[in-house]
Amino acid sequence: MINKIIASALPYMPEKLLWIFSKKYIAGKSIFDVIKVTKKLNDEGSLVTLDLLGEYVNTLDEAEVYKNNYAEIIKQAEIASIKANYSLKPTMFGLLLNPEICYQNVREIVKIANSYNNFIRIDMEGSECTHEEIILFTKLKKEFPDNVGLVFQAYLKRTYNDILNLMDFKNRHSDLNFRICKGIYIEPETIAYKKKIDINRNFEYILNYLFRNDIYAAIATHDKRLINSAIAMIEKYNVPLNRYEFQMLYGVSPELRRMLVKNGYKMRVYVPFGDNWFNYSTRRLKENPSIVYHIIKSLFVKN
Ligand code: FDA
Repeated sequence: MINKIIASALPYMPEKLLWIFSKKYIAGKSIFDVIKVTKKLNDEGSLVTLDLLGEYVNTLDEAEVYKNNYAEIIKQAEIASIKANYSLKPTMFGLLLNPEICYQNVREIVKIANSYNNFIRIDMEGSECTHEEIILFTKLKKEFPDNVGLVFQAYLKRTYNDILNLMDFKNRHSDLNFRICKGIYIEPETIAYKKKIDINRNFEYILNYLFRNDIYAAIATHDKRLINSAIAMIEKYNVPLNRYEFQMLYGVSPELRRMLVKNGYKMRVYVPFGDNWFNYSTRRLKENPSIVYHIIKSLFVKN
């Protein structure tokens, strides 16, 4: 309850104050800020996926600006020789305004990533986007089989079937690379599991399927129980190191992250950055007020 009250008050706080809360989770505003953070993470043994903040644009002009910004970011990141790939949210490129233009925008970005032999992960957004984001992925995958991946959310009841429907790519000898996470958006009970125990069970069920079918798995969680269960599966199936990685959000559970790196697991940190940090922070906080607890704690407890 208190978290909810604080979360709803956060958008009215001055930007400078909100930045104090947010900076632990956001690398900065510019590409140069994020390159600095990435180099530090690389030195610690972690890879990175860069995420320019912004989503749900209102006009296609905005989408065009974001496309150009992304293209520039990739060029700068490649010049800096950091160990990073890229994540993006299709609603930033106009998915809900015009899926065809969104496809053209994202295609240009994937093409640039492809020219550097790099990889774009399509984040999964709210359920109003799921169908279109899978279609976007399949179109891109046909042209750039090695340079594009998708995210699946364990809280969605449809996820297992969505993955089964994509097995055709695998059968045609194209590798599949999926990130599996719990899911962050508020979804109705008709389509989404609500209880942690059910979400975790589905997470494990899907991960088990990915391993058994030799699909590259990006295991995105800070949940120790799920991480242990993933490690048990990796050992059971003898999954080679080059067929999976763990992923965590920048600023979340850094000790657990370092422990996994120390134990030899491949780790990738999702690092958001950009001018849009204010909207991103307030939206995330409203969606999930329990994060407020972690943010406030982070003000007092040094990691
Ligand atoms: P859970 O929420 O149970 O958290 C486990 C523990 O982790 C908590 O007890 C706490 O200690 C710590 N923790 C978790 N979140 C924290 C936070 N914000 N601050 C501080 N501590 C925190 N979602 C989505 O819908 N689409 C997507 O594309 C992605 N992409 C994505 C990429 C990566 C790399 C990650 C790690 C996550 C996502 N997510 C996402 C978000 C994901 O769906 C989920 O909401 C969060 O990861 C939190 O879930 P956990 O699995 O960590 O478990």
